[in-house]
Amino acid sequence: MVYLMGLDRAASIDDLRLRAKKRIPRFAFDLVDGGAENERNLRRNCEAFEEVELTPRYMVDVSEIDTQTTLLGQTFATPFGMAPIGMLNAFWPDADLTLARLCKAQNIPYVASSAASTTLEDLAEAAEDNGWFQLYVSSDPDVTEGLIARAEAAGYTTLMVTADVPAAGKRDRDIRNQLSVPFRFTPEVVLQCMLSPRWALMSLRHGTPNVANYADLLQTATSYANLQKTLITPGFTWADLKRLRARWKGKLLVKGILHPRDAKACADIGCDGIVVSNHGGRQVAFGPPTIKALPAITDAVAGRIAVIVDSGIRRGADALRAKALGADFSFAGRAFAFGVGAGGQAGAARAFEILQLELVRALGQLGAPSVDNVGSSHLSSVQ
Ligand SMILES: Cc1cc2nc3c(=O)[nH]c(=O)nc-3n(C[C@H](O)[C@H](O)[C@H](O)COP(=O)(O)O)c2cc1C
Repeated sequence: MVYLMGLDRAASIDDLRLRAKKRIPRFAFDLVDGGAENERNLRRNCEAFEEVELTPRYMVDVSEIDTQTTLLGQTFATPFGMAPIGMLNAFWPDADLTLARLCKAQNIPYVASSAASTTLEDLAEAAEDNGWFQLYVSSDPDVTEGLIARAEAAGYTTLMVTADVPAAGKRDRDIRNQLSVPFRFTPEVVLQCMLSPRWALMSLRHGTPNVANYADLLQTATSYANLQKTLITPGFTWADLKRLRARWKGKLLVKGILHPRDAKACADIGCDGIVVSNHGGRQVAFGPPTIKALPAITDAVAGRIAVIVDSGIRRGADALRAKALGADFSFAGRAFAFGVGAGGQAGAARAFEILQLELVRALGQLGAPSVDNVGSSHLSSVQ
């Protein structure tokens, strides 16, 4: 019943998800909510976070709690930010700009996706110095160079290159929904839209969402068939990453790292950080949950580069679980998407507020006046 109540009665990110589900046509909801194949990784990501136990320490003065943390030289309000999400305006019209503005207002990082439904220039303007750019390395070097040059010109100083798309993820829900880009308005889709009148009206006002950064490549129907060659990167190798490192003068992060040796190689190449990520369980169903992969990775990089983790963050305490296991920072994708889907700008703000309030409470309970006080001594396994 939570979807009938005001946003202030949404107590958790899961509540926001249920509200979003009621407001959004099924094909668009599944696009964000779904994962690869039987969604084992999607489930396991969240379960594995829940399994990390932190032991409270008492008799510590926590009357002042500081949630700020510094990452790559910039101080942010919380130890979590917003992960890149492509085509998010299909989930809720104007979601991209709504979230970019929220991240700027709340002083957390916002990562603009290559596959966003808003141009990287517009997102840079909205997120200002809190905006980072996520890059899919295209099989066409000119396309990649074009995006890098545009990101530079737009003022981004941090580039996050995504490594975990050598093949397209197989998402069973999208296949069942016959999802395609551009959207095909089959009778079933039209019916779903009619059952979500607010979404339908707003979508009519904002127009059909598209991968805005590639608009010039998508003038013809056949060019859509080639879009995968741009977003899926089977030929992306370590040699390409080295070239990218030489080309990009700002901070360079690699997203999608799960193996300790890959993490160490990123540090050896001179990357500034990695994102331990399985794309929110959207690429494979058989891989490890990220929070399980994290300890071996933090050991392997031994503090040489920043380690960020995403995939499965649904609670403020999850960012502290990650911190206790050695991560410097966390990103959430769906948590923010569910917020904007649950109530536009107010829903996005509510998602941030829920995570932030949970974080503050968890810090108090852990006897940690600041985020930097959280470490391995809070792990239940440590005596
Ligand atoms: C609908 C959707 C689209 C995504 N698009 C991108 C993308 O364009 N680039 C990228 O690097 N990651 C993308 N991701 C992965 C997210 O950046 C992030 O890794 C993931 O959402 C984290 O898991 P969480 O949703 O459980 O927080 C996408 C995720 C979702 C759910």
